[in-house]
Amino acid sequence: MTHAPDPRFAVIVVAAGSGTRLRGGVPKAFVALDGRSILHHALRGVFQARPEQVVIVVPADHEAQASDIARDAADGEPRPVEVVVGGTTRQESVAAGLAVLRDDIATVLIHDAARALTPAAVFERVVARVEAGAVAVIPAVPVVDTIKRVDASGRVVAAVDRSELAAAQTPQAFRVQVLRAALSAVDADHTDDAALVAAAGHDVAVVDGDAVAFKITTTPDLERARALLALAPPASVPSPTALAPRVGIGTDVHGFGGEGTLWLAGLEWPGEQALSGHSDGDAVAHAIVDALLAAAGLGDIGTHFGTDRPEFAGAHAEAFLAHTAELLRAAGWRVGNVSVQVQANRPRFAARRVEAERALSAALGGAAVSVSATTTDGLGFTGRTEGVAAFATALVLPL
Ligand code: CTP
Ligand code: MG
Repeated sequence: MTHAPDPRFAVIVVAAGSGTRLRGGVPKAFVALDGRSILHHALRGVFQARPEQVVIVVPADHEAQASDIARDAADGEPRPVEVVVGGTTRQESVAAGLAVLRDDIATVLIHDAARALTPAAVFERVVARVEAGAVAVIPAVPVVDTIKRVDASGRVVAAVDRSELAAAQTPQAFRVQVLRAALSAVDADHTDDAALVAAAGHDVAVVDGDAVAFKITTTPDLERARALLALAPPASVPSPTALAPRVGIGTDVHGFGGEGTLWLAGLEWPGEQALSGHSDGDAVAHAIVDALLAAAGLGDIGTHFGTDRPEFAGAHAEAFLAHTAELLRAAGWRVGNVSVQVQANRPRFAARRVEAERALSAALGGAAVSVSATTTDGLGFTGRTEGVAAFATALVLPL
């Protein structure tokens, strides 16, 4: 018995909408569900279906945030992800995603990020139907409400036979050439891709959707998604307690012996010996980063600032803390407060303690940071002035 080759398909996740009906304060895909964003949850379902390529289409200036969310949702697995900027309509966003699709991809799935809880099984069903010969496939669920046709004056004109209706969902799957041709021939805006392909004269097949693949459009939808996650939290998502404050701890140590002047607690210390380390060796800043990431359940400093991120090689506290605050925000958290203690013989902190608090606080967008300092009575490596140690605790709050 021979096995068919694995289906080669890609998923374009459209997440470039503004979410005007949800009014979440940020574009809809970045609104938090349970400490993780709508986009994060959507990507978890996508990744589970093991596509060859994932293209995430986002609003301008949200590319970095989307990349961070994708890295987090990938949970350490290598995932082929690209992030591009979308357009003013959903259709333009789909076109932007198609523009970076790999040439060897024969089947493409278009998926709304707003359908955050779509199970991987729905992806598998649409792909299987394309593999079986369909050129366009949508998942759909039966319509449960009685539907009326209503005229402009608000009067019922006619009942509509419900048995002939189905509510279309995503992911919708297409042979790539069919979707590309339909898009280039189109002269009107369609709310979904199947309508576009049908307008181009193709048959659209239907497979079973899933009730939990509903689209988060308004606040009650958001609440429903949050309630579902609280009932059945995915394994690695900190929920339902994520809706309560969380605390985290972080420590760091750096030895003296770096190049240039000392940077510590976000301040430059002229005349003091520098610490060594991948960045500027600012143990105070690094302990704070670890405490904040731990509190939010987002891994640790190595997860986000590893040696694969050369832009942080010479970076100071400000860049580390600002990026950490951004990661937290993307996951639905804000910084409550941070308390950090530094153990060091040198430098002498007392005179610049308040200045350090201000610098660290500013880098975290104004969150309260307390800095205390101590010596160790001449004991240990800090007592021998070989290096400094820092210990931080942080409180994070849901957005
Ligand atoms: N979408 C997109 N680009 C657009 C508009 C929509 O990528 N220009 C995406 C949305 O991000 C969403 C999906 O298409 O994942 C479905 O759109 P919708 O639910 O209407 O989302 P929004 O347009 O963001 O919401 P609203 O219409 O309330 O503003
Ligand atoms: Mg819209």
